[in-house]
Amino acid sequence: MKKILIIGAIGQIGSELTMALRTIYGGENVIASDINNAASEKFLKSVTFEIIDITNKSAIVSLVKKYNINTIIDLAAILSATGEKNPMLAWNVNINGLINVLEVAREHKLEQVLIPSSIAVFGPGTPIECAPQETVLHPTTMYGITKVAGELVADYYVKKYNLDVRGLRYPGIISNETLPGGGTTDYAVAIYYDAIKYGKYTCFVKEDTRLPMMYMPDCLKATIDLLQADLATLKHHSDFNVGAMSFSVKELAESIKKYMPNFQIEYKPDYRQAIADSWPNAVDDSAARKEWGWKPSYDLNTMTQDMLKVIGEKHKKGLI
Ligand code: NAD
Ligand code: SER
Repeated sequence: MKKILIIGAIGQIGSELTMALRTIYGGENVIASDINNAASEKFLKSVTFEIIDITNKSAIVSLVKKYNINTIIDLAAILSATGEKNPMLAWNVNINGLINVLEVAREHKLEQVLIPSSIAVFGPGTPIECAPQETVLHPTTMYGITKVAGELVADYYVKKYNLDVRGLRYPGIISNETLPGGGTTDYAVAIYYDAIKYGKYTCFVKEDTRLPMMYMPDCLKATIDLLQADLATLKHHSDFNVGAMSFSVKELAESIKKYMPNFQIEYKPDYRQAIADSWPNAVDDSAARKEWGWKPSYDLNTMTQDMLKVIGEKHKKGLI
C-alpha cells in the first residue's frame, strides 16, 4: 500500500490532489504538508497535516520516518510570476527542495517520487504552435530554468540510482477550490471569479495570448494515472507533455459570454505578457497518450459551464 507524503499540499493543486488520493488510498495513507497552514479549516480538519520547509532535508527525513512514507509528491514551488520577483527563492525551493526530496528518497529507499514540471520549460526556439515532447528547452524565467533542471536531475536519479521518479509538464491549471499561487496562467482562473463577482475582468495579458490549459479534474486524473502507470511501459519519466485545451483570452471571454452575455473584458498587459509570449500555444502529448493512456475529458466550454456553476454557487453562499 502506498504511504504518501505530499509537500506543498495546501496549494492550488495539492489541496485537491490530497483529497483525491485520500479517496483512493485511505486518509491514513496520505499525509499533507506545507510551509504554512493557511488552508481552509475544512481541509485542515479532514487531513493529517504537518508544517514542513522543503529546503530542510532533516525535516523531510523526520516525516518519512514518523509516517513510514514510501512515496513523496513534491508540489512545493515558487511559480513563474512570483519567481521573477524573487529568483533565488524560486531556485532554493524548486531545486534545492527537489534535491532534498530525491536524496531522502534514495537514502531511505522510497518506492516512488512524483514531481510536476511545467510548460515553463519551453522558450525561444521551441516550436510555438505545438511544443514537441523532445525539443529545445531554453526558458526565459527562473521558474522555467528550475523546471528544466528539475527534469534533468530527476531523470539522473532514475538512471543512476534506479529511483522511480515521474513527472508531467502541466499546462496552466484552472480550478475553483484554491486560488493559484502566483503564476502567469492565473488570469484563466481569475477571469471566472471576476465574471461572477463583478461581471467584468481586467486581464494582464493581451487578448490574442494563447496558452495550453487544463481543468483541475483532468489535472488530477493525469497525475494519478501517471502515479499508477506500470513502470515497464514508461520510456520517459520526469518530463511528459500533457495537453487538454488551448485557447486565446478572447476565446475564453467568448466562452464566458455564451453563459453571461453582459460579461465585459479589458486588457492591461504587464510583465507577465513576456512570460506568456515565451510559452507555446499547445503541446504534443502523444508520448503520455502512448505510454500511460493519457486522455483529457474537458474542453473550454464544458469547463466554463462547470466553473461558472461552482463559483456562482460559492458566491451565492457568500463564500467568495
Ligand atoms: P501553488 O503555488 O498553489 O502551491 C505551492 C505550494 O508550495 C504552496 O502551498 C506553498 O505554500 C508551498 N511551498 C512554498 N515554499 C515551500 C517550502 N519551502 N516548503 C514547503 N512548501 C512550500 O502551486 P500549484 O499550482 O499547486 O503547483 C504545484 C506544482 O505544479 C508546482 O511544482 C508547479 O510548478 C506545478 N505546476 C503548476 C501549474 C499550475 O497552473 N497550477 C502549472 C504547471 C506546473
Ligand atoms: N501555471 C504556471 C505558471 O504560470 C505554469 O507552470 O507559472
